[in-house]
Amino acid sequence: MSLRIGIIGAGAIGQIHAATFKQLDNAVVAGMADAHLPLAQKAAAELGIERVFDSADQMIASEEIDAVVLGVPNKWHADLAIQALQAGKHVLLEKPMGINAEAAARIQEAHLKSGKTLMIAHQLRWVWPARQLKKLIEEGKLGTIYYVKANWLRRKNIPGWGSWFTRMEHSGGGPLIDVGIHLLDLALYLMGNPTPASVSGSTYASFGPRKLGIGNWGTHDWNGYFDVEDLATAFVKMEDGATLLFDVSWASHNGNEDGMLLQLMGTEGGATIKLNSGVLHAELFDRKVDIEMTPDEKADERLLLSRHFVECVLQGKEPLPSAATGYLNNRIIDAIYESSKSGREVRMGS
Ligand SMILES: NC(=O)c1ccc[n+]([C@@H]2O[C@H](COP(=O)([O-])OP(=O)(O)OC[C@H]3O[C@@H](n4cnc5c(N)ncnc54)[C@H](O)[C@@H]3O)[C@@H](O)[C@H]2O)c1
Repeated sequence: MSLRIGIIGAGAIGQIHAATFKQLDNAVVAGMADAHLPLAQKAAAELGIERVFDSADQMIASEEIDAVVLGVPNKWHADLAIQALQAGKHVLLEKPMGINAEAAARIQEAHLKSGKTLMIAHQLRWVWPARQLKKLIEEGKLGTIYYVKANWLRRKNIPGWGSWFTRMEHSGGGPLIDVGIHLLDLALYLMGNPTPASVSGSTYASFGPRKLGIGNWGTHDWNGYFDVEDLATAFVKMEDGATLLFDVSWASHNGNEDGMLLQLMGTEGGATIKLNSGVLHAELFDRKVDIEMTPDEKADERLLLSRHFVECVLQGKEPLPSAATGYLNNRIIDAIYESSKSGREVRMGS
C-alpha cells in the first residue's frame, strides 16, 4: 500500500519534503497546497506533482489524502495540525511542534483523541553520527551520561530578515525555537530522555535589530521587522542529576564552525559529534583514547526521517520524535524565554 501524502506549505522546507517523499516506494506525493496558490502551482509543476489543491482546507477535507506534511510558519502549526488530525489525517509536523507550549498542548490533545500518527520533523536524529552514537549509548558504552554541552553558534546566518522568521508573533522566537529546538531534541534523545527539573537562560538581540548577521535562508523583507533574539544560552538541570549546557545563535562574533557540536560526557566514555563526524573518548590503560567514528551508510537523514514516518503510519508504531517529546521541547524553550525575561531559574514541574 502507498501512503498518499499532501504537502501543505510550498516554501523551502515543503519543497524539500515533497522531493524526499517522492523517493519512497511506499508513498506518493498526491498533492500540494499553499496559502499563496501560485506558489503551490509553481512548486508542484517543478516537482512533477499533478494535483494542486486550492487551499489547505480543501486538501485536509479530501478523501484522496491519507497524511499531510505541514511546512508552514510556526504560528499556523497548531491550527492546521489540529484540523488535519480531526479530519482523520496522519501528520508530519515541522518543528517546533507549537509556537509555544500552550499551542503544543492543544495539538497533543487533538492527537490523543484522533488515534492518528503525529510526528515532529527532527531530522538530526537520523544523521549518521547521532544514529551510531545512540546505539553505542544504548549498549552502555558511555555509562551514565551526566553532562552534555550542545552548541550551534552560527556567525552570520539570520534567515528571512523581516519575514515571519524574525517576527515573534509568527515564529515564537529566533534561533532558539528555530535551530535550537533541533539541538535540544537531539541532546535529550541521546541523554535517554531525562526529565528536566529546572531551566536558566538568557537571550540577546545584538545583530538582528541592526540588520547585521544576515544569511541566505528564506526571503528577506527589508520593510519587515526583527523582534526576536539572535543568541540564546541555557542551563538545564535534570531530575536524575544530569545537566545540559546549551547555546545557539543565528549571528554572533564567535570562532566556531557554522554547525552543531554536541559533547556528551559519561562515566565510562564520552563523545563529540557534529553533523558529519564523530569521535569517541575514553581512558584505557592509563591513557586518553580517541576513536574516530566512520560513516555506516550513505543515507540522507531526511530520507530516513520520511521513511520512518511512513513506516509508523503503515505499521501503527509510535514515531521517534513523538507528540510527547515535541511538547516537552516546547516547554523547555518557553522556560528559557521565561527565565531570560525574569532573570530567574524556572522550575519545570510535570
Ligand atoms: N526541519 C528543518 O530543518 C527545517 C528547515 C527550515 C524550516 N523548517 C520549518 O518549516 C516551516 C516552514 O519554514 P520554511 O523555511 O519552509 O518557510 P517558507 O516561508 O519558505 O515557507 C512557508 C510557506 O507556507 C505558506 N503558508 C503560510 N501560512 C500558510 C497557511 N496558513 N496555510 C498554507 N500555507 C501557508 C507560505 O505561503 C509559504 O509558501 C517552519 O515551521 C520552520 O520552522 C524546518
